[in-house]
Amino acid sequence: SRQIDAWIACPVGAMGGTMPDIPDHLIRLKGGFKAFLSPPPEGVVRLTVGEPGFDTPKNISEAASAALASGDTHYTRGEGREELCTAWASHLRSRWKIPVEDEGIIVTPGAKQALLYAFMVAVQENDEVILLAPCWPTHAEQVELVGGKPVFVRCEAPSFHPSIAMIREAITEKTSTIVINSPNNPTGAVYTPDEMIAIVELAIEHDLWIISDEIYTELIWNDTEYVAPASVLGGFERTLTVTGPSKTHAMTGWRVGVFAAPTPIAKVVGRLQGNTCSHIPSFLMPAAELAAKDWSSVEKFREEYIRRRELMLAMLQQIPSLSASEPEGAFYVMVDVRQTGMDATTFAKRAMEEALVQVIPLDSLPGGEGYIRLSYAADDDVIREGIQRLQSWLAQ
Ligand SMILES: Cc1ncc(COP(=O)(O)O)c(C=O)c1O
Repeated sequence: SRQIDAWIACPVGAMGGTMPDIPDHLIRLKGGFKAFLSPPPEGVVRLTVGEPGFDTPKNISEAASAALASGDTHYTRGEGREELCTAWASHLRSRWKIPVEDEGIIVTPGAKQALLYAFMVAVQENDEVILLAPCWPTHAEQVELVGGKPVFVRCEAPSFHPSIAMIREAITEKTSTIVINSPNNPTGAVYTPDEMIAIVELAIEHDLWIISDEIYTELIWNDTEYVAPASVLGGFERTLTVTGPSKTHAMTGWRVGVFAAPTPIAKVVGRLQGNTCSHIPSFLMPAAELAAKDWSSVEKFREEYIRRRELMLAMLQQIPSLSASEPEGAFYVMVDVRQTGMDATTFAKRAMEEALVQVIPLDSLPGGEGYIRLSYAADDDVIREGIQRLQSWLAQ
């Protein structure tokens, strides 16, 4: 339409100068994994889903139903009700030693929105943002969305842990922010306490923001102690922590996330949210509060993931041309497909057409060349069938 054409042609952004050239930003966005995440034709096994194959715990769903039935359907506090924010602040203080005040919490529509707020706080036009690659595509896309420039620092296979020297080398006058996501999507790497402390020390030395995406911190499979950057001395004042119950409580569709920061920053983000989406739905708040307090079902899910991880790794070992990295956390396995003679994109396309298995190729992500990402969040039957199909196809 004429209006849309005019909007696309519009040289100056409509968001108060924070995004001076919206069309360019949108054109640069590549859509991440999307092309390989769309529901495939019937009969295709999906090893792609980035969400738990469980239902949300019943007590949490019931808390929302009860709130809805009782008429909890009106405007309320933009940051999330006080008891909700207190519950998440207490959890972050006791579980991860993050010294956040109750007023330092904003409950957002999903962790994604909390991340967007974090990038809006930390990144000015043309700032460079260090991303440890390969990274979750949304991190790079949101950096571009707010006018920043992603700078990818590769984490070398097979461990995909960061090199502090390489991060140091990548820091310039323009660097404003470093993003940490441990356990990592897609690599499954869990950074050691020493690595975390070294990154915080670098951030202090160069006066950088840290955006810490902690959505998978309950899903660690080795004995690495998770050290939150905001818990390290000097880390809290420069760290914007993002978390939420999506992955831990099988609540991806609820759209509940958590932004945690020093109170003055959270106040700004509270205004940002209050003037845009207002708040998450009122009747979800008692459920989101319960999620912060009740981690019992997460324990059960963990046992399942540990079993499914073993199943997937054992089956992958039977396929000589595939080489899987040992995931330390989250629910993804990086698989090097180069010995098949295919690049990852060709592999994914042919796996879909010939083996009827959907996988995600990481060729388009810096640092992911030659790798596909498989998810073991799926049911056992799906994992068995999917890997068996890949095995028979590759044996042909
Ligand atoms: C690293 C990472 N952060 C954040 C999210 C999004 O979480 P939410 O569904 O709460 O927006 C995901 C989902 O895939 C993720 O992998």
